[in-house]
Amino acid sequence: MTYKIKSRAVFASRFAAVATTVGSSVGLGNIWRFPYEAGECGGGAFLLFYVGFVCLLGVPLLCAEFCMGRGTRSNVVGAYRKLEGGRPWHIVGYLGVLASVLILSFYSVVAGWTLEYLVQSVGAATSLSSGLDAHSEFVSLTSGWRPTLWTVIFSAVNYIVLSGGVKRGIERMSNILMPILFVILVAFCINSATLSGFRQGIDFIFSPDFSKITRGTLLSAMGQAFFSLSLGVGGMMTYASYFTDKTRLIRTAGITASLDTLVAVLAGIMIFPAVFTYGLSPQAGPTLVFEVLPRVFSQMPGGIIWSILFFMLLVIASLTSTVSISEISISYLSEETGMSRRLATVVSSGVVLIGSVLCALSYGPLRDWLPFGMNVFNLFDYVASNILLPIGGMACSIFVGWMIDKVYLRKEFGVIGKKGGNTLKILVFCLRWICPSAILLIFLNAIGII
Ligand code: TRP
Repeated sequence: MTYKIKSRAVFASRFAAVATTVGSSVGLGNIWRFPYEAGECGGGAFLLFYVGFVCLLGVPLLCAEFCMGRGTRSNVVGAYRKLEGGRPWHIVGYLGVLASVLILSFYSVVAGWTLEYLVQSVGAATSLSSGLDAHSEFVSLTSGWRPTLWTVIFSAVNYIVLSGGVKRGIERMSNILMPILFVILVAFCINSATLSGFRQGIDFIFSPDFSKITRGTLLSAMGQAFFSLSLGVGGMMTYASYFTDKTRLIRTAGITASLDTLVAVLAGIMIFPAVFTYGLSPQAGPTLVFEVLPRVFSQMPGGIIWSILFFMLLVIASLTSTVSISEISISYLSEETGMSRRLATVVSSGVVLIGSVLCALSYGPLRDWLPFGMNVFNLFDYVASNILLPIGGMACSIFVGWMIDKVYLRKEFGVIGKKGGNTLKILVFCLRWICPSAILLIFLNAIGII
């Protein structure tokens, strides 16, 4: 196989590389998915496992994806191809492309809900701002055809950003907006302390109650860790292919994992006190955050402004993530099949659009279509997050741990002579033994074998 050498974009600075990577990982996964998964799976105990998985699996796997992407400067399929030495490992890459399409399908729907809430808050004359009955409000928003419209609008915005190219589009947004989102989240956490359910909410999320752990909890916590860190499908690999040689991989992995986890914890502090204050159930599922937040905003002074600001930032955080998910299939199509980047963007957005329309309708007209007992939205989420991401992660850790040449790894991790040698040894040990066996054990646990 020969490769066309194309001149590829690179991120302009080390800061941009970190900001963009954090931008990919921080998104709806932290603010929408984490609270509802934690709520369904027992709060504190879930958080504990989640943080454990981020450290034990997340950081080593981030390093593994980074080194494959940066060293080969390729998309996920191409990276495996260049390093596999004639074995068929690039199939893992195809799996990643498939998972990215599933993820983007339901992700765009949630981003569409967010967009609708943003527009409603700007309109402010609606019941959203009064927050009287957020549940029926949400039900009326998600049933019917309206979510489809918002999903399509969001996808169009995503398409426009993608057409701007990697550097211009993504970099600018991440650099400016991520810090603002962070500040706003802290403000909401401070506001949480004024709510009557503050203690109860904090207890729920920070004191682990192991009796609430069920068979699926470990798998869900692991799936959430992969999802939130954009791991397992080559998302981080694809981004790392735009890093310069100066980017320090282990440090970037550490910063990304810490900030991403911090944002999830902040989201927990923001949501759970409100859940208890307003007498809601933490087990509401994917709709949780959208039912809770309007009530929080309605009791804050200047609630409409907060609401606009929050949903605006959430739309943007989603956008920095959807751009990164889209990049997986676009870079694959344009580099492996010889399509132009423009055509690749059109093809991949078109395929995802079909998936996201199905997901958008699955809380409305397709409500009763339940393949494997779940609606399409939940099915896509479950298959991608709890099955494909961990499998992809396991394959990547085995590949980097066992198959890749040590000289390559020493170069990527900047090991010169003895300097940094031990860190690399620990990393390789984790990738060879700990990550694959932990993932395997959790799968066996989930299906009831252990
Ligand atoms: N991590 C992002 C979030 O938390 C979602 C995401 C972006 C993602 N790129 C990905 C998930 C690649 C899996 C794979 O919102």
